[in-house]
Amino acid sequence: MNLAVYLSGRGSNFEAILAAIDAGSLNAKIVLVVSNNPDAQGLRTAERRGIATAVFERDKFASGEEFAGAMLNKLNEHKVEFIALAGYMRKIPPAVIRAYSKRIVNIHPALLPKFGGKGMYGHFVHEAVIAAGEKETGVTIHYVDEIYDHGVIIAQCPVPVMPDDTPETLAQRTLAAEHKFYPEVLAKLFRRLK
Ligand code: GAR
Repeated sequence: MNLAVYLSGRGSNFEAILAAIDAGSLNAKIVLVVSNNPDAQGLRTAERRGIATAVFERDKFASGEEFAGAMLNKLNEHKVEFIALAGYMRKIPPAVIRAYSKRIVNIHPALLPKFGGKGMYGHFVHEAVIAAGEKETGVTIHYVDEIYDHGVIIAQCPVPVMPDDTPETLAQRTLAAEHKFYPEVLAKLFRRLK
């Protein structure tokens, strides 16, 4: 499976996917890493590994159509068959979502439909989970549609919230679950698609 990973920052989920491919537990090849952020740490990781990278900044394009067209050309150029969002904090253009219907997934650090939507990312999610007094949070993998954190849920994995958790300790525990869960779910999806 030719995979593109989209990320905006650190890219630890991208590294977990790479590690699973290296270990032989995920049958895929990351052919492209895409970011909206030229300074994303994940892009540097990709470069070190000799993986092609592309940066798409919406404000560098005159229209949404041109932006989507350029992105689709790049995906075609690299023969991308499946897209995994891994900490990508921008909307995917509708034309790309249509072209990759049921072939774009996202990971979210909570049990959707709770604690999702615009502005609910990274530490904001964990702050909101603690503020709501939740005893359990988790990880959700879902298909991507045109609304943030809204597409059909593929799989969820629970993570306990401890009484003395801070957003940082909860983020750490959730991230550890993400690193294990995302490659496992992708492996299952790819077995079904191939
Ligand atoms: C991850 O926790 C991911 O679930 C979250 O951003 C983090 C990215 O970390 N995504 C969202 O909040 C999406 N709404 P990473 O760059 O180290 O993989």
